[in-house]
Amino acid sequence: MDSPFEVLDIDSEASDAEVERAYRRRVLEAHPDHGGSAREFQQVRAAYETLQRKGIEGVDAAELDGDGESPDADGSDSPDEADSGTESDAEADPEPEGARVEYLDYQALADRGWELTDEDLFEKAAEADLSPSAYGTFVAPPHDSLLEAAEENDLTWPYACRGGACSNCAVAVVEGEMSMPNDHILPEKWLDRGIRLSCLGAPISDGMKVVFNVKHLPGLDDLRLPPSTFDKARLND
Ligand code: FES
Repeated sequence: MDSPFEVLDIDSEASDAEVERAYRRRVLEAHPDHGGSAREFQQVRAAYETLQRKGIEGVDAAELDGDGESPDADGSDSPDEADSGTESDAEADPEPEGARVEYLDYQALADRGWELTDEDLFEKAAEADLSPSAYGTFVAPPHDSLLEAAEENDLTWPYACRGGACSNCAVAVVEGEMSMPNDHILPEKWLDRGIRLSCLGAPISDGMKVVFNVKHLPGLDDLRLPPSTFDKARLND
């Protein structure tokens, strides 16, 4: 079987950032919606997960060569912090205002039988005595992704790759507008339904209503990577 390095078409000395970039390129090539196959897609995901679990810097490359699967992992999964985004070109001109984001956990919909299309969804949420982690508002600073803004407000939203290559961080935009760079895996049909990736996109309207944690929507979950800080936090609840 091909090693994870071969599957991702990278050198065994590749840095974390190179692994990340290779994964984003390969997973797009391999996705069935983009001309690949389900098998190839799974291979690419498995290779990336193997390298993430192992931590590319501490790995003995020979250990992984010739075997795309890794043995027991310790369950760790969090992405590295090497994906620090694009702050380098940010001018330090703090703007006093950001976008007001009203958020709702998709789990609350599932628990109560609400639908994303309910016109009074957020009104019901406001009256439902939900916890602050499930429903509330925050102000998203102008230069942050929605996920970063949520985290700066002590919210723990799901994510995995933080690079456009999965659906873990997906949100449904119910009201307002959110930017969406092109370099991501989300098929057009999901964009048309208002689904965006919170790790890449940012509010571009003054106010937004979003449902986060929509990664379990049928069809979105096959783009998911395991697991995330959020999932682990829930397990520990
Ligand atoms: S966390 Fe993977 S696309 Fe956002």
